[in-house]
Amino acid sequence: MPRPARPRKKVFVTRAIDISAIERLREAAEVTVWSGELPPPPRALRSALRDVDAVVSMVTDRIDARMIASAPRLRIISNVAVGVDNIDVEAATRAGIAVGHTPGVLTEATADLAFGLLMATARRIAEADRHVRAGKWRTWGPMTMLGRDIHASTLGIIGFGAIGQSMARRAMGFGMHVLYLKRSAGKPVDVLLAGAIGVSLPRLLAQSDYVSMHVPLTAETRQMIGAREFGLMKPGAILINTARGMVVDQAAMVAALKSGRLGGAGLDVTDPEPIARGDQIVRFENVVITPHIGSASIATRKRMASIAADNVLAVFRNRLPRWCVNPKVRLRPFTDAT
Ligand code: NAP
Ligand code: GLV
Repeated sequence: MPRPARPRKKVFVTRAIDISAIERLREAAEVTVWSGELPPPPRALRSALRDVDAVVSMVTDRIDARMIASAPRLRIISNVAVGVDNIDVEAATRAGIAVGHTPGVLTEATADLAFGLLMATARRIAEADRHVRAGKWRTWGPMTMLGRDIHASTLGIIGFGAIGQSMARRAMGFGMHVLYLKRSAGKPVDVLLAGAIGVSLPRLLAQSDYVSMHVPLTAETRQMIGAREFGLMKPGAILINTARGMVVDQAAMVAALKSGRLGGAGLDVTDPEPIARGDQIVRFENVVITPHIGSASIATRKRMASIAADNVLAVFRNRLPRWCVNPKVRLRPFTDAT
């Protein structure tokens, strides 16, 4: 008697990602890819998750406890990002769902963007480009578009993990002094960064010409930079944020920009995203904003998609994803009948 065919596993991918990752998933499962340019609205996402074994999600997809409760078949949420603040990881763990992410492969690309924002803000690159395009470049000007020095200045790095340390390496190559805030004592710091100095948050804020955010968004880091912290910063310092918009109190940032306490900001992330065209923060000439493109290089996004597929395929083989946020999860194994 021929064995009854195994039911095919089902995967929902919430946006078009690198095709080779989709093709690898298609070898193991029936794959549906959301074709919209915008993310699936919550109702469409909930409806899609009702009947799938895996979801490949993006930072734009909020997968909360309610969404998880209405996804009885789901075994893995595979986020195409290192940050997982869009997912209720505790609810997923309780439901026996693994949460995968894509650390490491995006570290250098994101540090490149963070350092690019630092340079663009310090040397007024975006503003100068607008000046030229508006036909205002009439001559070389001895006092035109004067910015800040980067070399020999001090960069304070908040969150000294993978991206924070890569940012430090770039800064040292540019002749900057580096201060950092590190939470746990355990993890070693790259020997190349021996000249960087670990300090308290008040000292970092008081001594840095540039402050760059590299913490994940958690209950502890939400709005960790607010009115009090802006008040502790060096007058005229510049803030760079490629972490998450909500690690900074944006209303306090606007107030600090208005008062001149904050000399500028380079933001790849905002609160909310996308930021409205009419938002006050968009009106400052000394603020450079990019649309959450930290990891957006061709090669990096390809690697992220590949890892996201690997994470799903591991769970299909009843293993934990290689990059698992909740390794203590009790996976519900697939059997011949599932
Ligand atoms: P990571 O290697 O885990 O580094 C994060 C660091 O932050 C860790 O060293 C962690 O310390 C530290 N940290 C956590 N809470 C802290 C606190 N309260 N005070 C001080 N330090 C704290 O992560 P990563 O790969 O560098 O990524 C960092 C974040 O960048 C991600 O979570 C994501 O939100 C963001 N990101 C954005 C983009 C983008 O496109 N803009 C791209 C990639 C990442 P411990 O070692 O003690 O845990
Ligand atoms: C992007 O924001 C990420 O967390 O990878």
